[in-house]
Amino acid sequence: MSETLERWGSKRAFILAVTGAAVGLGNIWRFPYIAGENGGAAFLLVYVAFVLLLGIPVMMAEILIGRAGRRGPMGSLGSLAAQAGASCHWRWLGLFGALTVFCILSFYSVVSGWSIEFLLASLSGRFSGATAAEVGAGFEAFLASPGLLVLNHTLFLLLVMGVVAAGVAKGLERLNNLLMPLLYLLLILLAVYAATTEGFSTALVWLFKPSFAAITLDVVVHAMGHAFFTLAVGACALMAYGAYMPDEQSLPKAAVTVAVLDISVALLAGIAIFSVVFAQGLNPADGPGLMFVTLPIAFAELPGGAYWLAVFFLLLLLATWTSAINLAEPMVATLQGAGFGRRRATLLVGLGVWLLGLLSALSFSTLADFRPLLGRNVFELVSSVPPDIFLPLGGVLTAIFAAWIMPRAAAHRALGTGERGFALWQGVVRWVAIPLTFVVLLSAFL
Ligand code: PFF
Ligand code: NA
Repeated sequence: MSETLERWGSKRAFILAVTGAAVGLGNIWRFPYIAGENGGAAFLLVYVAFVLLLGIPVMMAEILIGRAGRRGPMGSLGSLAAQAGASCHWRWLGLFGALTVFCILSFYSVVSGWSIEFLLASLSGRFSGATAAEVGAGFEAFLASPGLLVLNHTLFLLLVMGVVAAGVAKGLERLNNLLMPLLYLLLILLAVYAATTEGFSTALVWLFKPSFAAITLDVVVHAMGHAFFTLAVGACALMAYGAYMPDEQSLPKAAVTVAVLDISVALLAGIAIFSVVFAQGLNPADGPGLMFVTLPIAFAELPGGAYWLAVFFLLLLLATWTSAINLAEPMVATLQGAGFGRRRATLLVGLGVWLLGLLSALSFSTLADFRPLLGRNVFELVSSVPPDIFLPLGGVLTAIFAAWIMPRAAAHRALGTGERGFALWQGVVRWVAIPLTFVVLLSAFL
């Protein structure tokens, strides 16, 4: 009896851990603004297709490697490669993943800092009765205050690295137990409110009625990057989670569950945000400020709105906290593998991420004209190139390793399905996910 209970507990714990990594800024902040810049429904259609064809199978590949290797990313890749008689250089994929999450965490922390600011602002009642124009102007003024942005970025990073240094990251997964249902509840409330606004039907058409002519190469590249980003796939960050996955748990079921949870959070947020966008005559392509401008307006119209808004930003902050911890762990683990103590490793990673994050934080003011590459400033670079290029590249290499390189029997055992299930997964990864990712990646460069 107690054994069954415990196993149930750990199966659930695994799903919660992966959901904690997946659900974060990507769903509530990034999805609406990237969809807004890429034509709405056209983007959503391609993004969902990529989640099904690439995201879920590659997520399984990534977790499966950790489950079969039972070590950190570099260790698992190295030992499985050795078992297969393949090159031990495969383990550098783990390092590439650590580099990717390094870049991602630097802007993730800056934007999470915005949530801290908005949490405090909503508690102080700053948004009560504010009009759309006032909220928008307030956000612009906030972005133009380098001191405030740096302060909040620093605070958030301290919260993340504190947990990582103490090595209690795993304990935090229980937080998701409480967090996810509350976040859902609040988003459903928001979506119900959205249904009463004038913008609702326009928002539904805009999100769900694709015009196929709107599917450009740009849309496809961004949709693919976002599919990897939102599922936290492609940076070996989920590989480590596979190592403590219960033996009898079905990997495909877990991956599909997480993907469904992740997409539904994004959809609810999208419905709420775009209803406000259209009701207020705002521009869906307004960029990274979209959520921060629309949601205060939406909540301001609800009874007790200032408090709901504060609760919302608190939940968002907790959700991004668990994702950020997942982003930091692999880097710290990699340094530990290289012989550093945990505290020193955390300090180094924290310092590096903080410094790179400074450049992002200042990209809205002091460094707005510092455009080192592609005409983009540092924030625009680190928030687009790692998600759109590094994650798919890491993902496709992970997929190649799982479906072509590592011993078949080990892969089959770690996937935990029957023969037909394994053949299906392997077929999809070999003949759909890998070629598709390559084609999109190559066309991004042509
Ligand atoms: N999946 C997270 C989100 O949607 O906010 C972001 C993320 C976490 C990306 C971990 C990559 C990663 F390795
Ligand atoms: Na996500």
